[in-house]
Amino acid sequence: MTLRSILIHPDPRLKKVADPVTDFSEDLRRVAEDMLETMYAAPGIGLAGPQIGLMKRLIVLDCVKDREAPPRPLVMANPEITWASEERRGYEEGCLSIPEQYAEVTRPAEVTVRWQDVTGAVQEEEFSGLWATCVQHEIDHLNGKLFIDYLTPLKRQLITRKMEKLKRERARDGIRPEPRDEL
Ligand code: NI
Repeated sequence: MTLRSILIHPDPRLKKVADPVTDFSEDLRRVAEDMLETMYAAPGIGLAGPQIGLMKRLIVLDCVKDREAPPRPLVMANPEITWASEERRGYEEGCLSIPEQYAEVTRPAEVTVRWQDVTGAVQEEEFSGLWATCVQHEIDHLNGKLFIDYLTPLKRQLITRKMEKLKRERARDGIRPEPRDEL
């Protein structure tokens, strides 16, 4: 397994629509393992292909917060929301591609997601709570959408400027700040 480097906003790859996964070979399993390892190491609770420059409709997530509980790594290829609740829920979101920036985003509280697992088999499940927030955030990444796109243009610009500054600093001295609980 290999830790992949995570792209930081702004980056044109984070604004593109990713292509469907069509190859369910060993290569897919390997890249999914890399993505999970990269997500856990960050640490984060979700990661989408475009965040490592992989322009495929592939996401990984594990929203188990309890350290005592067993992990539940999920790999979803071609995920689609097939149902969303009318009830909405706000959550202070972050993103591994926008380190240390958080803002409340309101999304459907519950969603049903259909996806293909690493073997290509179709799965469907209903998610609520943090899982619902996370899976919607990750699917947005596959459509070139970031959580800051839900904010006002002014807030978005402020965060983008901070990220540009962070990227300049990182390029200069290679410091990598520790991200927290990010999606
Ligand atoms: Ni994200």
